[in-house]
Amino acid sequence: MTDLSLFFADQLTRRLGGFHPDIALILGSGLGRIAEQLQDPVIIKYADIPDFPQSTVSGHTGQFAAGFFCGKKVLCMQGRFHLYEGWPPQIIRDIIHSFKRLGISKLIVTNAAGSLRPSLKPGTVMLINDHINLSFANPLIGPNNDELGPRFPDMSNAYDRRLRNLALQTAAEKNIPLDQGVYLMVSGPNFETAAEVKAFGILGADAVGMSTVPEVIAANHAGLAVLGFSVITNLGTGLQQQAQSHTETLTAAEAAAANLTQLLSHIFERL
Ligand code: HPA
Repeated sequence: MTDLSLFFADQLTRRLGGFHPDIALILGSGLGRIAEQLQDPVIIKYADIPDFPQSTVSGHTGQFAAGFFCGKKVLCMQGRFHLYEGWPPQIIRDIIHSFKRLGISKLIVTNAAGSLRPSLKPGTVMLINDHINLSFANPLIGPNNDELGPRFPDMSNAYDRRLRNLALQTAAEKNIPLDQGVYLMVSGPNFETAAEVKAFGILGADAVGMSTVPEVIAANHAGLAVLGFSVITNLGTGLQQQAQSHTETLTAAEAAAANLTQLLSHIFERL
């Protein structure tokens, strides 16, 4: 499996025109508009970078937006890549590793997720404090680049403790509701069965989704500090009356995005 991270880093550097981001922010389904908060952003379309994958899911724009957000230099991904689209997990590794090569030290990930417990209601923002990888894939499978990280990376602080404390403290001070819990990743694209939702809850997860974990594994491998948020868009199958749909996910994520944007702006001020 070829390592494209050097090539992507080079392509991004050329297009960033001397702007050196410190933080990467990945915006999940229905959350892309958070990038509208950037001051004078430089837009880089995924389609303009040779060999870069293209977003195939509605609700994912397919571009980078780079600029200042609350005084911090940020590179946003408006649209990410999912295993269910058929992308190999290693392409996600290469994108995250290109961020490392650009000098980025922190990765903030966001996603839309289903709740696995009735007390975690749609509309809630959940701080991810850990994850369970049930995607049956791993972005680090293949030759290891020892320059970027170790063969067997530690995951004991996968979601950086210091950043999590900062998020919890900020939310409390600013009176922004923030739950916390464990995110479980499945490959998708189907929503879960009711039996799976029940099983995942027993396993110790609080929310389920189809993304994020590959990015977080690759970031930990390369030594980036990670902060993650799930926007809860629905109760898991069997916990709600109606059937699941992507349209519902997008509508609910867009509705909850304001809370998350507000929280992120206060966190960025303190990073
Ligand atoms: N399951 C998986 N992924 C999701 C869900 C869900 O219920 N909601 C939003 N993304």
